[in-house]
Amino acid sequence: MLSSDIADDLTSVLYTEAEIHARIAQLARSIEADYEGEDLLLVGVLKGAVMVMADLARELTLPLNMDWMAVSSYGAGTQSSGVVRILKDLDSDLSGRKVLIVEDIIDSGLTLSWLLGNLRTRGAASVEICALFRKPEAAKVEVDVRYVGFEIPNDFVVGYGLDYAERYRNLRDVAVLAPHVYS
Ligand code: XMP
Ligand code: MG
Repeated sequence: MLSSDIADDLTSVLYTEAEIHARIAQLARSIEADYEGEDLLLVGVLKGAVMVMADLARELTLPLNMDWMAVSSYGAGTQSSGVVRILKDLDSDLSGRKVLIVEDIIDSGLTLSWLLGNLRTRGAASVEICALFRKPEAAKVEVDVRYVGFEIPNDFVVGYGLDYAERYRNLRDVAVLAPHVYS
């Protein structure tokens, strides 16, 4: 149950927790088929991907490692600046590793295209992307994403790790943020 002041900030639920879990299970089956017998490294992008990472990693039956990176391309607002800074780097050496970046959402694509370029200079055997959400209408650069959970309209969404000004990450469902919150 949401408190009524949180409910007032949301216009509609886009995907429920159950729908998200079901889709993550499907993605996990594809990933297992593609990485069978490989030594997989999941790289979660903090902080938004925490929930996706936790559910995807537990759904996967492959042996795997998890590592985390934090980058910033957004201030407190809803627009990507395109300028990416590393706030926390990986602990792992990527040499020869099969890397799968786990992301919450691809909006303009600027963050991930930068991250992909950065990780590809570190000697990994492969670098692929799994993103729970993608907004095709918002794309400013094309990013080759191997696994996409849901394609969604160009609305600002929160919940299941996704925030607005660091709020709403703990909502179980993913919902559209009401414009009155950010305008
Ligand atoms: P870009 O535009 O670089 O943005 O693809 C990717 C990052 O921006 C954040 N983002 C969002 N966060 N609701 C959010 O809570 C959204 O609708 C949204 N769109 C983009 C997110 O951190 C993502 O990693
Ligand atoms: Mg993110």
